[in-house]
Amino acid sequence: MILKWESSQRHIGSTVDWGHGFVVEKAYGATIVDIDGREYIDFSSGWNTANIGWGRPEIKQAILRQLEKTAFRPVWCVSEPEIKLAEKLVALTPNPLEVCFKATGGTESNEIALMLARSYTTKSKIISFETEYHGGTYGSLSLSRTKIVTKKLGPMLPDIVQVSLPPCFFDPCMSISDCRDRCFTEIGELLSAGDVAAVIIEAVLTNPGVFKPGLTFFSELRRRCDEAKALLIIDEVGTGFGRTGKMFAIEHFNIVPDIMTIAKGLSGGYVPIGATITTKEIARSGKGVLDTPTFGWTPLACAAALASIEIIEKEQLCNRADEMGKYIRDQLSKLLRNVPFVGNIRGVGMELAIDVVKANGERWYEGAARVVSESEKKGLIIEMTGSVCAVMLMPPLIITKEQIDIGISRLVESFKSLKS
Ligand SMILES: Cc1ncc(COP(=O)(O)O)c(C=O)c1O
Repeated sequence: MILKWESSQRHIGSTVDWGHGFVVEKAYGATIVDIDGREYIDFSSGWNTANIGWGRPEIKQAILRQLEKTAFRPVWCVSEPEIKLAEKLVALTPNPLEVCFKATGGTESNEIALMLARSYTTKSKIISFETEYHGGTYGSLSLSRTKIVTKKLGPMLPDIVQVSLPPCFFDPCMSISDCRDRCFTEIGELLSAGDVAAVIIEAVLTNPGVFKPGLTFFSELRRRCDEAKALLIIDEVGTGFGRTGKMFAIEHFNIVPDIMTIAKGLSGGYVPIGATITTKEIARSGKGVLDTPTFGWTPLACAAALASIEIIEKEQLCNRADEMGKYIRDQLSKLLRNVPFVGNIRGVGMELAIDVVKANGERWYEGAARVVSESEKKGLIIEMTGSVCAVMLMPPLIITKEQIDIGISRLVESFKSLKS
């Protein structure tokens, strides 16, 4: 059998269209090795997933220990790792979030959030934000639908209203009155109609290109949701578990959501798992309505997630994300200064974006794609986001300083090789 990317795609359904990749042999720390033995520095973490790094022996041991007992249990039972994980998540998330619903990943966590919001409020309208991404199943995809998705897959889930991203994310408001005027015209009008079940958003926008709003945005959104008896759902699937320098990105703002969704970094990519965490009262409305997925929170997955959280805490990876994120930003600003096609450089913790722009300042999609493929040739894995034509840097939080420096020098070379 020839193990090549191109031939592998013959029998594997493809959802992406960038048409490149390689066959992975193994991965450890912040290094990925392909089938031909080529090593790559990972500046992606599988899009904010491998926060604790690849190939951790602690996770292997936790999984093996649990495997000796049981990997699975029927949905009407519960196992020790599930009980411990629920307790741990409730301790980590803000009060009064105290009930966890079991999911197998991010999109399912968001589906559950939508169901809880509708069931609890008995209203149906959901507000989501353009260019955000919440997952690939019908409900979640309806939140982040594009024109082409709607055309090919529609009708999508009804009563979802997509609004444009508020200015606060790009040019933070300086005062609450400023924020009310600039950011809440559209959202405010929708909420004041009284028929909105929930608003769903990330606390730091990842897929739109790493944007953090001013402090006023979330306090005003919280107030407006309370006034309109609408729930506030915060999607922490990508931003959770240390990525932005806090355990959860919403901790940058002094508010508590009604529902929080998590996945990805929860297990660090070792097993599929996700969760929807909410209040006792909201959780009660899911009884008799929501289902438990067969593979939701298997004992094996919970054992891995508990071990992953333990590593994040023991190695203080939230602090490390903050500290090393600042270092990466400083280095990028220094080394990419006056390099053609480099636009704005921004980041929160170890989630960073660099806009790729033409000489006239226009966003350049093809340029960003070329930086990604050129970096791959040089042994660096980065990703991109199409909505703002930015390359995205999201390394494992345990990456060494030496790897960061080598990775950045490869990235700089990739930018320098760009021609219009
Ligand atoms: C913010 C956000 N929410 C939800 C999802 C969907 O998660 P999953 O791929 O685990 O279904 C993603 C995936 O990238 C995401 O970035």
